[in-house]
Amino acid sequence: MAQHLVLRMRRELSADMEQPLWPAGMTCRTLAPKPDKRDAMAAHSVLEAGFWEGGGGAPIFRKWWPELRKDSEFDPALVFLAIEHGEVIGMAQCWTSAFIKDLAVHPRARRRGVGRALMLTAFHAFAKRGAAHVDLKVREENANAQRLYRDLGMTVIAREPG
Ligand SMILES: CC(C)(COP(=O)(O)OP(=O)(O)OC[C@H]1O[C@@H](n2cnc3c(N)ncnc32)[C@H](O)[C@@H]1OP(=O)(O)O)[C@@H](O)C(=O)NCCC(=O)NCCS
Repeated sequence: MAQHLVLRMRRELSADMEQPLWPAGMTCRTLAPKPDKRDAMAAHSVLEAGFWEGGGGAPIFRKWWPELRKDSEFDPALVFLAIEHGEVIGMAQCWTSAFIKDLAVHPRARRRGVGRALMLTAFHAFAKRGAAHVDLKVREENANAQRLYRDLGMTVIAREPG
């Protein structure tokens, strides 16, 4: 299988960053401290739908959820869910090391600012925890996501095998 190259991107954090602006009718919450499996499944379904056309890959729920929960860097308070009409339509899952692991917005909810609002929510959460910067990795060919990240002030700090 061909190996993907990934870009590691970073942004310095500060207290005066842009605040997230959610589209009308949309709300954001995190996973509960003792996450409900239905919530986790809803987050996973967005991840699957989000990565359907590329950009990364989503393992099946049966593999994803147990591995996520047992990871020492997992914190349900760092899984941000965008909700519209009671449904999860976007998610950002972050590690405690100030790293945004996965960002996905359902294809039908894109280009309305949900991705940007999820990213800014994560930036503020990490700033509040005292992190100096936030990182993520993005595939080199994922131009859409990179445009969003650059627009949010992120810059490439490394290029490495994925
Ligand atoms: C990357 C991704 C998360 C972006 O989500 P999104 O909700 O569409 O992001 P936003 O709406 O904040 O921004 C996307 C674009 O819509 C534009 N936009 C935002 N609000 C808009 C509005 N109200 N009207 C028109 N355009 C709008 C933004 O300016 C941005 O434009 P650009 O493509 O020129 O940069 C989404 O495309 C996705 O899930 N992709 C697949 C998974 C993936 O690649 N994840 C990242 C892996 S690292």
